[in-house]
Amino acid sequence: MLEHRTASNYQNDTLVLGFSDLNRLRSERPLVLAGGRGVYVTDERGRDYIEAVSSFYCVALGYSDEELIEAATRQMRALPMYPSGAHRTVPVVLELADKLAAIAPIANARIAFATTGSEANDSLLKFMWYGNGHTGRKARRKIISRRGSYHGGTALTTGLGGSAALQESFGIPTVDHVYVSQPDWPAAARAGESGAGETEAAYTARLAAELRSAIENAGPETIGAMIAEPLSVSAGMLPPPDGYFPAIQAVLDEFGIQLFADEVVTGFGRTGNMWGSQTFGIRPDCVTSAKGLSSAYQPISALIMSPDFHDRMLEGSKVDGWLAHAGTYHAHPVAAAVALKTIEIFEKRDIIGHVRRIMPTWHAALDALTDHPLVAGVRKCGLAGAVVLRKPGATGPAESGMKLGGLGRAAYEAAIERGVLVRPIGDSLVMAPPLIIREAEITELAHRLRRALDDVLDAETRG
Ligand SMILES: Cc1ncc(COP(=O)(O)O)c(C=O)c1O
Repeated sequence: MLEHRTASNYQNDTLVLGFSDLNRLRSERPLVLAGGRGVYVTDERGRDYIEAVSSFYCVALGYSDEELIEAATRQMRALPMYPSGAHRTVPVVLELADKLAAIAPIANARIAFATTGSEANDSLLKFMWYGNGHTGRKARRKIISRRGSYHGGTALTTGLGGSAALQESFGIPTVDHVYVSQPDWPAAARAGESGAGETEAAYTARLAAELRSAIENAGPETIGAMIAEPLSVSAGMLPPPDGYFPAIQAVLDEFGIQLFADEVVTGFGRTGNMWGSQTFGIRPDCVTSAKGLSSAYQPISALIMSPDFHDRMLEGSKVDGWLAHAGTYHAHPVAAAVALKTIEIFEKRDIIGHVRRIMPTWHAALDALTDHPLVAGVRKCGLAGAVVLRKPGATGPAESGMKLGGLGRAAYEAAIERGVLVRPIGDSLVMAPPLIIREAEITELAHRLRRALDDVLDAETRG
């Protein structure tokens, strides 16, 4: 344990932190990060860490981009704040909406802004209810999601995945929710009658059939949309099986159910295209974006909506006289200026090209870890991945889900000691480094992670 995190040094226990053990917080100082440069962050003692997961999968352009800092400063000086709403906005927000629509994976998209990814998903459901309610589709309230996904931390979005235990723990209402399986290929494949394993195509067809029966059981006329992450990040960085999205989209189309792509993490290059929808053949009706949208230097998120979806909202506005929805910080001018600059940087520095060029090095570095006795396997997709851990000699599946597994926790702590920050999910270590990472930094990251795994193995062996 690092010296500064021991109880004797810890004098400030007023702060309550999420995704943290509240009891541990009372006696142990959290890791306090005070600076950052490129893919590195530095703690209050000056110790450096490679941010292997871009903090919350968000700092796409690394920690010290001068152009982003300048864009924020310029806007701060021009007009630090003016809310967008009540038929008023600021120039940079108009420009950002046009620019985002131009690169969106939906033709002629309409754009609304919010502050966080959770809020974007939350508002999208609210807008769906609004539009449906005014166009004879009032009964279409329900939303389909996949167990184990994460779509946010608001009361509504907590209901969209996570786990039944977590929803129970917070007392989340789930009356409008329909759940289907999280695709987990090949781990969730069934053995066939002949003993041969289920093929990827058969697995995908099974999930499409499961979706069909979930829709039929819930009543197709009561369902508005399905929401899905192109790449299931919080389920452990699970890429969809081959043909998954076209297959489920065919079922949704049959019943007139829309598909919302939660691109809060996958948007802005993570999978090797600007959007995960492009990587996985998704034709979304709506998309939500956040995090990479401003390289997370400022809080801003976006709802990217098809003209059809927006037309239904227009009907509501005709009746009510307005869309009675806004937020003080929605489309905050400083955040909008940073987002606009982020898009410009993606284009002029060819960030997507860089991701594609560095992907083989990243995948090779993950593959190279599979010889470690604690590594049961790796997952790779774009510039993201996960290392699945298992104790030597253990049988059965590794722990998954949002709760920390014992091995995942131990490896996470050991990685901190070795100077690399990863995200433990069950017994997997999830990673998604800043998109600007270079080859030498990937080598260093893998080296530090291996040493951390060696430390865990030593501790396991000593018992
Ligand atoms: C796929 C996905 N959707 C939504 C969210 C919520 O975004 P935020 O934390 O900005 O509210 C997250 C957060 O990690 C996410 O991973």
